[in-house]
Amino acid sequence: MSIFEELESEVRSYCRSFPAVFDKAVGSHMYDSDGKEYIDFFDGAGALNYGHNNPYIMGKVVEYIQSQGITHALDLSTRAKEEFLTTFREKILIPRGMPHRVMFCGSTGTNAVEAALKIARKATGRDTVFAFQGAFHGMTAGALAVTSDATDRKRLQGNLSDVVFMPFPYGFNTSFDTIGYIRNVLTDDHSGVSLPAAIILETVQAEGGVIVAPVEWLQQLRALCDEFGILLICDEIQIGCGRTGTFFSFERAGIMPDLVTLSKSIGGAGLPMSLLLLKPEIDKWLPGEHNGTFRGNQLAFVAGKAALEFLEDNDLLSEVKRKEAIVKNYLETKILPMDDRLELRGIGLIWGIEFKNLPDGSALSKAVSRKCFDNGLVIERAGRGDSVVKPLPALTIPDEDLTKGLRILKDAVAEVLQG
Ligand SMILES: Cc1ncc(COP(=O)(O)O)c(C=O)c1O
Repeated sequence: MSIFEELESEVRSYCRSFPAVFDKAVGSHMYDSDGKEYIDFFDGAGALNYGHNNPYIMGKVVEYIQSQGITHALDLSTRAKEEFLTTFREKILIPRGMPHRVMFCGSTGTNAVEAALKIARKATGRDTVFAFQGAFHGMTAGALAVTSDATDRKRLQGNLSDVVFMPFPYGFNTSFDTIGYIRNVLTDDHSGVSLPAAIILETVQAEGGVIVAPVEWLQQLRALCDEFGILLICDEIQIGCGRTGTFFSFERAGIMPDLVTLSKSIGGAGLPMSLLLLKPEIDKWLPGEHNGTFRGNQLAFVAGKAALEFLEDNDLLSEVKRKEAIVKNYLETKILPMDDRLELRGIGLIWGIEFKNLPDGSALSKAVSRKCFDNGLVIERAGRGDSVVKPLPALTIPDEDLTKGLRILKDAVAEVLQG
């Protein structure tokens, strides 16, 4: 038995899917302690958009450490934070005409979701929040309350109040007027549902199985929120930072959310950072009202600033669009034809191959992920019954590694489908 099995809690998660002891990583390659190489199509669940140990970003971090820069500072003002904020304003907020203020939250994504829900309720004086079927927003009580997965929710049943789940435009709902349904809930004085403070959504449901909301639907949702005075919260934690081909995923719909949660890759090098962007008129916090010890990870500020520079200097957003075409074409022509019950969804560099329509899709997707791992590719599953295999490569992945990873995936799907 390893020390992990012996000593670490049963709560262990990803290490069960990828049973190796990882030692080193560079770019899109990971190495275990036996020296076996893996291509990474998982990327720390989206925390490594710029690859492992990106030399430009890590160079800045090393430089900062060697300068005896502060590593921890609560939410004191520091040079590292000042430079991050200045760069974030210049490169992200101003070009997009975003008036939002930046709130640093506790170090994980779920804490930004907690903050968003809390301030939305405070700013509107309303309790209810609408979330969507298929949504994942985190594992702390408030974030779990707006997460739809029954397995996740079971862990905290009884406390998940004041949230009403609306249908997302997916599956059965694609032929159903979901916006009309929400409007009806809002206007029917016998719907039994109070006017919500906010509607929270991922424009691409990532853990939900890579479900991409249509542009017109997002625009209609924004208009509905305006009409009823509901705050729109876009959760960009997994799909932000360039993943879908624009810095924020909502940009493709030309909409402006009232609140935006950001985490994972905003820390540049997989270092924990979590942000809430909020319009000034919603910034009703009292000083310290959402405090936390780890709201000042200086190394993440340094890496985060460097990542924004790297993104721009390397025109990474165009690269995402170019690589999107490679992935889409490969999956459409080499994997989908293997079985007409397979479904493909995706945008930018987040894709999902759904096995749901095959008998025991969950077991099949698990077998594919496992076979990939044995053959040197780290790839995770998502969606209903975990029946979606989800390629999530770094935005920086070289074409050669991208195609090699896709080939490993294709061979694994072929082998599993042949039984
Ligand atoms: C969309 C979304 N929101 C929130 C979270 C929670 O982030 P964290 O795991 O850092 O708490 C995740 C994590 O996967 C996520 O994908």
